[in-house]
This record gives sequence, C-alpha cells and structure tokens, in this order.
Amino acid sequence: MKQNKEILDSLTINKMVVIGVGLIGGSLAKVLRTKGMVKQLVGVGRNEQNLKRAVAMGVIDSYSLDAAEAVQGADLVLISMPVLGIEKVLASIKDSLSPDTIITDAGSAKGIVVAAAKKVFGSVPAKFVPGHPIAGSEKSGIEAADEELYLQHMVILTPLPETDRGALDIVSQIWKAAGAEVVTMDVKYHDQVLAATSHLPHLLAYSLVETLAGRNENREIFRYAAGGFRDFTRIASSDPTMWHDIFLANREAVLKSLDAFSEGVTMLRKALEDQDSQSMMGIFTRAKSARDHFTKLLAQRAYVEPMNESDTTFFAGKKGALTGKLRVPGDKSISHRSIMLGAIAQGETEVSGFLEGEDSLATLQAFRDMGVVIEGPFQGKVKIYGVGMSGLKAPPGPLYLGNSGTSMRLLAGLLSAQSFDVELTGDSSLSVRPMKRVAGPLAQMGAKIETCDGKPPLTLRGGSEIHGIHYEMPVASAQVKSSLLLAGLYAKGVTRVVEPAPTRDHTERMLCGFGYKVDVKSLSGTSKEISLQGGGVLCGGSIDIPADISSAAFFMVAASIVPDSDITLEHVGVNPTRTGVINILQKMGADIQLIEERIVGGEPVADIRVRASQLQGIDIPEDQVPLAIDEFPVLFVAAACAKGKTVLRGAEELRVKESDRIQVMADGLVALGVDANPTADGISIEGGRYQGGVVDSQGDHRIAMAFSVAALRADGDIEILNCANVATSFPDFVNLANQVGMNVKVEN
Ligand code: S3P
Repeated sequence: MKQNKEILDSLTINKMVVIGVGLIGGSLAKVLRTKGMVKQLVGVGRNEQNLKRAVAMGVIDSYSLDAAEAVQGADLVLISMPVLGIEKVLASIKDSLSPDTIITDAGSAKGIVVAAAKKVFGSVPAKFVPGHPIAGSEKSGIEAADEELYLQHMVILTPLPETDRGALDIVSQIWKAAGAEVVTMDVKYHDQVLAATSHLPHLLAYSLVETLAGRNENREIFRYAAGGFRDFTRIASSDPTMWHDIFLANREAVLKSLDAFSEGVTMLRKALEDQDSQSMMGIFTRAKSARDHFTKLLAQRAYVEPMNESDTTFFAGKKGALTGKLRVPGDKSISHRSIMLGAIAQGETEVSGFLEGEDSLATLQAFRDMGVVIEGPFQGKVKIYGVGMSGLKAPPGPLYLGNSGTSMRLLAGLLSAQSFDVELTGDSSLSVRPMKRVAGPLAQMGAKIETCDGKPPLTLRGGSEIHGIHYEMPVASAQVKSSLLLAGLYAKGVTRVVEPAPTRDHTERMLCGFGYKVDVKSLSGTSKEISLQGGGVLCGGSIDIPADISSAAFFMVAASIVPDSDITLEHVGVNPTRTGVINILQKMGADIQLIEERIVGGEPVADIRVRASQLQGIDIPEDQVPLAIDEFPVLFVAAACAKGKTVLRGAEELRVKESDRIQVMADGLVALGVDANPTADGISIEGGRYQGGVVDSQGDHRIAMAFSVAALRADGDIEILNCANVATSFPDFVNLANQVGMNVKVEN
C-alpha cells in the first residue's frame, strides 16, 4: 500500500477496488488502466458472471465476491452501486480498511451516503470523499463501460469540513485524469440541484411511459412515437433499481421539485383549457429561450454572454475587387428600441428586420425576464405582446446586458420608474463604461439609482416618484437623451432634454410611431430641445427595421479602397442623424450614391452604391462627429488608405466606447506601419502603404471588423485577435464579407 503523499506525487495507485463494476465503476477502471495509473484493479459484486466478464474484457485484473476481503491493503475504494445499498457495504468493509485507504462513491444523492457513513463509522471518516460523476446514461452494466465516458463531463465532490484535503486531492486528480471537470459542492445543495436537473426528469420520464404504456391503444401509440416521445423518454430505460434508490434517497428534494413542476403543469393546463394563447406563448417562448441558452452554454457559447472574449481570431487578407449586392443586418439602435417600446405599449407589436445580434438579444431577454411575452426572433421577425406602461414584473435576478451600453443606459431610464428593484450588469467591457451620465440626471428626476463608482452594475430601487426636469446634456449623446425621455414617460410633468448637437433621433421618431407626442424645438445653432409630457400610453403597431448604416459602413470603406469595386448596399437606414459616415467619405472623395431614397416606417431608407475611388485626407468637420460616432474605426482605415493627412478632433467620446477606440485603433494601425498619432480628443493619420501584422481588437466588435477591411490594402495578412464580440452587432459579418469578395477566415 502506498502513502497518500506518494500517490499524489506519482499519481499511481498500487491497489484500487471497485465495488459495483457497471457503467460508472467500469468506465473509471477502464480509463485508469489504459493510462497505467493503477497496478492492481479488483472488482467486487454479487453477480459472478458479470465480474468474470469484466476480467475477460480487461476492465479489472481480478474479482472477489467478498468486499471485506477485497479492500484489504487497498489504496482506493470506489463504491459505485445503488445508493441504498451503500450503508451495508460500508458496514461490511469497515473493519478491513487501513487508516490510509481512501474511499469515494458515485451515488447520485449525497445526503443519504453521508448519513450512512456517519451511522456505520460513528462519524464520517476523514478519508471518505463523497462524489457524484454526472455522466450516467440510460445504459447500464459492464458492457456499456466506456473509457471516454467522463471526457468533458462534470464530477461533483461534496467534501465535509472533516474531509482530509490530501484524500480530496487524490480523488479529484483521478477524476481529472479520466477527463472530467471536477467541482466541489455542499451536500445539501448538491441534492437540491440534482433533484431538479436529474431526478425530476427521470421521474417524469418513467411516469409518462408508464401512463402511455398502460393505455389500451398503447401498441398504436408506440408505433407512431417518433422524435418527441423518444427524446423525452430515453431516460426511462435507465436502471430501475438505481433510480428507485435515488428517488427514495433524495425524497424530500425530489418532492419539492415535483410540486413546483405540478404547479407549472396546472398553470399550463388552465391556459390551454381557457385557450389563453398569450399565456401559452409566454411559457413556450420563455422555455425555448432558456433551453436554447442552455444548449449554447453547453457548447461554450451563450448568446447573452459572449464567448470567452479572447478566443476568436480573424485572419484577413487581400483579394480582388468587391462586387455585388448585399443587405446587412437590421439597425441595432432601432432593434433595441422596438423591444423596449413594444414591451410597454398596449397591444401587439410586430417587428421585421430585427438584428439578431447579442446586444439586441440581451435587451430582448431582459424584457422576457420581466414577464413580457416575445415570440421570435425568427428570420428577423419578432412579435411583442405589450404589457402596458405598468405591466413589467420584477425579474428573477439581475438583468445581464452583455456588451450592450445602449441596453444599459436606456433601461436605466425606463426602469427607474418601475415598482420593483432591479440590478443591471454586463460583461467586462460594459462594466467599465461611464454610467454617471445617465445616473446623474435620472437621480435629479427622483430615481433611486446607485452605480459602482460611476460604473455598472446599476441598482435601481422601485417605487420612486419621477418628475420631469430640464436637462442640458454636456455631451451630445443619444443614449442619455433616450434614457431621460424613457424615464420621462413615467414622470410627473414635462421632461425636456437639450442636445448641444444633433444625435440619432430614433427614440423620438419611434415614440411618435407608437402614438406618443414628442416636441422638438430648434434652439440656437444646431442645438435642439426634445420634450414630452409623462403619463401617456403607447400603442403597439408594426416596425420595419432598415439595414444598419453602422454595419454598412465597413463595406462602404472596403469598396472605396479596393480598385474596381462596385457594390450596392440594400435598404440601408439613412436617417440624417446617422449619415456622418457618408458625408465624411464623400468629402474624402468617395464615390457613394444614394438610390431610391424612400421613407419606411418613419425612417429614411435608400440603396447605397459605392464604387472605388482615390480617397484624400481631410480635416473631419467636428459637426459630423456625433453623426458618425460608431463609424470612426473604419473611417480611420479609410484615412490610412487616403492620400495625405486626415485629422479628427472633438471626438473624446470615442475613448469610452466598447474600448478606447482612439488608442486601440492607433495601436493597431501603428503595428501595421501606419503613421497614426492619437490625441486626447482624436487622431491624425497619414495615408500610405502599410504591411500586415497582428492587431488586437480588445474585444471591440467594430475594431475587429475595421481591421478586416484594412487587410484589403495591406501588403501582408492581418491577424486580428479577440473578435468574438463581432456577434454583438453583426453575427454574419464574415460570411457576408466573403460573399462580396473580402477575405476573412475565422479561427476559434
Ligand atoms: C446609440 C447611441 C450612440 C452609439 C451607440 C448606440 C443609441 O451612443 O454610439 O452605439 O442607440 O442610442 P451615444 O449616444 O452615447 O454617443
């Protein structure tokens, strides 16, 4: 027998005993043998035939029918058998164990196993490490043993305060060696979680099959039972004894989960009986989004929580001219607002052209979490069942808004006047973005809003009395304006917001579209006052969202800088508060033509034809800055390809976007050999030839896409790091880009 320390140092075991050589025990034995980690593997069971088969299959070296005899001199004992039998086994081996023998088990309920150990030994032995590999299947027996069973599966260990740390380490290392991810958990918590996620579904599967099988027409039912029945009931083929034991062993927690489930089924039954479509759709859409989210989580890919922000790299290079027609995805700003306004409107709102990017989906999910029934998105279509001005409900937890500053700032306004408390959180980029700009004026309106040193998370206390204010924005920000106007809907009196320069006016336009009166008054220069009276109602309707000019901008620059290019971007929103990018590019000499300008759902829309041309460096007019605020990363690329110098001033806002866009772009351009000099409020860029190289987008979607465009003129390929967040605004960017002749490859 080895000392525990020796085992840990060498990760080899002289003797291991597996009591219960079935799927779970047999699979671990198999993988440890293959890896040469165990010198002698002894199986114990009651069925000699089974044990002989295990020897013949090479899973174990030898077997014994007597557990007490087998465990003598063992370094490690794994008990992998139905949980109700564990007490008896522990009692039988108690006197044969040496003080150094480590015992672990694989039972699906942990409270009962710990209680059994206490009963047998007086107190739970320090070398006993309760465990639970979550890797079972409906298959059982040694024939099903598979050395890859634990690969990427979880093993939960539930050590007690008295558990020996060395023993815990060894058990943990062994499971890890089998490929599992090991976590530790409190015994009681384990049993509650597993009751809901594993035990209840098994109970329901057994019950459904039994109910259907008991009906007279059962033959017929089973003959036609395809996908749904099969998927739902696969686990009813699991080992009955094992599950009988688990349900009894974790009875209380299972009953609690069953009660919660029964309540849910009763509600659904009532909705069906009453033909209450809205309640039914509410249940189904919430469940679908939760299930989809869960599937993506399992695939390491959550839609509200972008992939580990550092794990997607773009490799972009040169190709020929860009040609063809393309429609980029829907406008992000309008997509956010369609959900927000649709949710608090009366009646239904049908949206088409919705952007299915992570940012707008975060907004959608937030309103689902607040009880709004939302169908879709499906191919850009979304249907929102409005709950009225005061119909939102407290969400079950913090609202996670991912990378989306627009969601957080606009929701801060909208939610500051609700009856419930709510916390708004986001990813690492959003968590360092300034929120005082909304929290300050909202507090003046009476909101009880807390920030973390001016940054997220934001906490909003319910039941605040909101009143209108007159607010002159120090920075031209559509997000701040919109946040205050949304709070103003709930305020006593009139809310007036003065913008020093024009910013995107989608909130004003859309409020009008929802039947809410908004006044806009021109003040001196380009300044405007936007005001509304609180206490009105919004009426749902339909919204046709145009393609996002901010996404189209990448292709405008791409086609401008690659000789002989000629592309048409279809159905792009050309609201004059957004067309700074066109104005700036045209001033640089770009050949951009707006075709068939029209109004769609209150927004100006056009097809945009862009042909290659020699760009010239310019001083960017400062009045264009708020009108092109999101397009500067790609405009800097245009500047790098232009003749002469381009200078930007008055754009310090760029330093607090998804990244510090002045610095991150300057760093990337300099890495490619571009003469780029950042200043406090802008940058100067001398156009010319540049090379390929490695640049880091710092998780900023627009910077990742801008450098994909830059590659079209670089003398070598560009490797762009941290591109996962492209999915926040333009999930299909790479495909579309390659379709029109760009050259971008993705590596995850
Ligand atoms: C947005 C406004 C802009 C923009 C952001 C979206 C909006 O921010 O940068 O991507 O939808 O209102 P600011 O208004 O803070 O400049």
